[in-house]
Amino acid sequence: MAHLLGIDLGTTTTIVARVDESGAPEIIRDWEGEAITPSALCFETATHVVVGREARAMAEDAEHAFLEFKRDMGTGVSHPVFGQRVTPLDLSALLLRKVRTHAEAAHGPVDLAVITIPANFTNAAREATLEAARRAGFAQVHMINEPTAAALAYARGQKQPLDGLYAVFDFGGGTFDVSLVRAKGMSVQVVFTEGVQRLGGKDFDAKLSALVAAKFQAETGDELRAGDCEFSKADAEDLKHRLSSRQAIRLPLRSAKHGRVHVEVTRAEFEAAIAGLVAQAEMACEGVLLRAGLDRRELAGVFLAGGTCRVPSVQAAVRRVFGQEPQLRDPDTAVALGAALYAAHKADPAKLSPAQRRRAAEISFQDIAPHYYGTLSLDDDGVLENSIIISKGEKLPVARTRTYYTVEADQRVLTCEVTQSAIPENDPLMVLRIAEVEMALPAGRPADQAIEVTFAYDLNGIMRAEFRDLGTGQPLVIELRDEGAGRGSLNVAKVTLG
Ligand SMILES: Nc1ncnc2c1ncn2[C@@H]1O[C@H](COP(=O)(O)OP(=O)(O)OP(=O)(O)O)[C@@H](O)[C@H]1O
Ligand SMILES: [Mg+2]
Repeated sequence: MAHLLGIDLGTTTTIVARVDESGAPEIIRDWEGEAITPSALCFETATHVVVGREARAMAEDAEHAFLEFKRDMGTGVSHPVFGQRVTPLDLSALLLRKVRTHAEAAHGPVDLAVITIPANFTNAAREATLEAARRAGFAQVHMINEPTAAALAYARGQKQPLDGLYAVFDFGGGTFDVSLVRAKGMSVQVVFTEGVQRLGGKDFDAKLSALVAAKFQAETGDELRAGDCEFSKADAEDLKHRLSSRQAIRLPLRSAKHGRVHVEVTRAEFEAAIAGLVAQAEMACEGVLLRAGLDRRELAGVFLAGGTCRVPSVQAAVRRVFGQEPQLRDPDTAVALGAALYAAHKADPAKLSPAQRRRAAEISFQDIAPHYYGTLSLDDDGVLENSIIISKGEKLPVARTRTYYTVEADQRVLTCEVTQSAIPENDPLMVLRIAEVEMALPAGRPADQAIEVTFAYDLNGIMRAEFRDLGTGQPLVIELRDEGAGRGSLNVAKVTLG
């Protein structure tokens, strides 16, 4: 029987599932016996790292503790730690290595792991995640978009097999995604997806901290300052959780100057403070329907994933925007369970038990390109324009070739650019340039030399761009990872994990 893992590597929490003997996904509890592990690491020395709950508890005052590093995947950020530089990729690799060794101690070597990523993740972040999984020592790794994984988990647990169009609303600790999928039984096809890369429960916590600080000031006339009164990020998160089930909370704060200060926070005040954030998610839902050319009345159901869906005003927003009651089943674990199912789908059938094989055979799956990708070229009037090669919503895998021509005689340099955009945009100033590499061309040729440009987008959601000068046959391949952002610098294998 194959050992197959689904790993929801979240901004705030990491959840791991495996496929059991019967082919059903089940959550693997962590080294502390918990289903949900904080995505937290703390370096005690250059070569010893604490992972999970303990690291999160240390994070408030430890200098070398890291939370929410998923938000910086693929961005070039790095941190100094005991004389070395540590990237979000390194941190993810360490967390994943801890997960792997724990799972292997219980169930033997992992044959295949599926790591989940936000549908809206950039290519650099996707590449960095895949590399982190490799460094963590997983032999075979695939990735799946989080809302798609959640859709698979929801598809499995229904009384009536799914049949029709569904929306998956995935609001986590750090990211928000909404996907439209067509599902029939365990066959899931992604139709369109929208998201906000930096929008999650963490932003709600920050609003709540500001609200508590304002109340403290109104009460005492003094600013809420560390040193006088401690109200940590963890306290804000805890208060937020309690406001999901209660209308008001009276908080006893302890101030060195003022003694005990009571502030009351109501759910209504909290919901007013986060209204702008919730509206962003709501707008993305309207956008996904609009861009897919679909009407909300066509939806057969709405599924909720991610812990932030527990906030009552978030659920109210979902009802408002989709006009129906959503299903809220295991919002924390749906992504990991769905990833484990996808692992069974991707595994070599020869390695599966007969029951696993039957389950895996029921699953079929189709994902799409999450952005528009193009290159910059000159139009007929010599004006620079963005020319789209792969469109958002195209079924994966996709490879497309277009031919462009050099503009000058004796042109020695070709600037090869890869652009990304959320809408089909021709204006070069309105798109993100995700790669720019110069290619040297031979001297002495006339203008109009053909350059073949191929963009290939694979099932892991990673794109490679190839620019080929047909005259010389010489290719220039651009791998979409930001220099420095992807690579990581730490020798993860040399770090001991506690
Ligand atoms: N009862 C609750 N009320 C309000 N928020 C909650 C509740 N339970 C969990 N959350 C919030 O849900 C978020 C965590 O959700 P989840 O574990 O789905 O996110 P994640 O997977 O870590 O992040 P992401 O998917 O964005 O990378 C946290 O911000 C947490 O505070
Ligand atoms: Mg998540």
